[in-house]
Amino acid sequence: MRYISTRGQVEPIEFRQAVMMGLADDGGLLIPESIPDVSDRLEAWGDLSYPALAFEIIRLFARNIPEADLKELIDRTYGEAFGPAVAPTVPVGNIHILELFHGPTLAFKDVALQLLGNVFEYILARTGGELNILGATSGDTGSAAIYGARGRKGIQIFVMHPHRAVSPIQARQMTTVLDDNVHNIAVVGSFDDCQRIMKELAGDLDFKRSYSLGAVNSVNWARVVAQIVYYVKAASDVCRATAAEAVRVTVPTGNFGNILAGWYAMKMGAPISKLILATNRNNILARFFNTGEYSLGQVWQTLSPSMDIQVASNFERYLYYRTGCDPERLRAMMEQFASTGCLQVEVAEGEGVDPAFASDSASEEQTLETIRKYHTEYDYLLDPHTAVGVSVAERLAEGDGDPIVCLATAHPAKFPEAIVKATGRDIAHHPKIDALMELPTRCTVVPNDKEKIRRFLVEAIG
Ligand SMILES: Cc1ncc(COP(=O)(O)O)c(C=O)c1O
Repeated sequence: MRYISTRGQVEPIEFRQAVMMGLADDGGLLIPESIPDVSDRLEAWGDLSYPALAFEIIRLFARNIPEADLKELIDRTYGEAFGPAVAPTVPVGNIHILELFHGPTLAFKDVALQLLGNVFEYILARTGGELNILGATSGDTGSAAIYGARGRKGIQIFVMHPHRAVSPIQARQMTTVLDDNVHNIAVVGSFDDCQRIMKELAGDLDFKRSYSLGAVNSVNWARVVAQIVYYVKAASDVCRATAAEAVRVTVPTGNFGNILAGWYAMKMGAPISKLILATNRNNILARFFNTGEYSLGQVWQTLSPSMDIQVASNFERYLYYRTGCDPERLRAMMEQFASTGCLQVEVAEGEGVDPAFASDSASEEQTLETIRKYHTEYDYLLDPHTAVGVSVAERLAEGDGDPIVCLATAHPAKFPEAIVKATGRDIAHHPKIDALMELPTRCTVVPNDKEKIRRFLVEAIG
């Protein structure tokens, strides 16, 4: 299995090279040359544990890692850092909740970033190279990236967050990690400043090459492939438990990274009849799937802050397939979007943009109401991102139909303010989060100045 760029100007490369490249060198996103069909294997995979299923799926995409090595990497990833079931699906009321928050930072990103850290370390051990990961975070991704990289040989990670502008829990999840290879940088500026500095430093190709800069953001193919596994597992498990032929899967969405893995799972033959894409008030993706127009709006702050995004970095992969796998055409569309903030796909009369998707957004009040309802009626606490998904699922999936799986993307203890707002009580706790408040922290405060950050990196890398 080789990888090509959505923009068509990268020679096909193998998995290991694709993982190290991250964003394709031509500015596009790397995608597999073909999508394997596993529908005739699903029954035989029915009784596999999570790591065993992960091995069966990931090996189809990671051909240039020897199978014994890949198996060891996967067993280590999902054996050590997660609860025993890794990603269990639990019935709650009329839906099935796929709990993706049993990793070290209590968020779905751990499922992919823990594996990515192991894969990076494995590749570097064989190439003798080193990797310096530079990231910018508004709060949540930073900790999952740090936990994925901490203590790994050949890797240093530098994560910038806006000084005093992330929540106390988010700050502590990052700054209590004291491993020598972890560098937390609090930039005296906004998240946009952090992101701009990251892009400028990574865009300086001489600097990037001289200091082996890499990225772990959601455009890395390894993150998508690791996420495909839980869609296949949940869809198969719920079908077996309910004797259904297929399930509908609801995904709270911002960057389109998570739901894209669901789309690949569907194309591979997993029993998924519909993907329900849920956004908060930042609804560019919901508008697209309802009208065919992808147009920038302003960014609103909401109770589900990890989805306060307008430009969805993984959307380009979907658009590539939706526009007939034509890199020239895609490139023209992305250029048009970059210059006008808008692009459009054709929609045949009465057909909708894509029958694979249904989509809507949830308001703040609907999100709070959903948290309240699930707490009162089912004694189950939803985090605000998950509640966006459940709220949309309840509206779009009314009546008979395939069972509904809702992805729970974070543990509610990460967002206690939203829970207090919804229920009036301080009930969202987790021992890992409570323990953070007692731990020592390390973080360097740096002015909002690209050259000062560059100097910090150069000195630390040595
Ligand atoms: C808790 C949570 N839910 C949902 C999302 C949205 O996922 P994606 O950006 O892959 O669409 C994120 C992303 O940051 C998240 O942290």
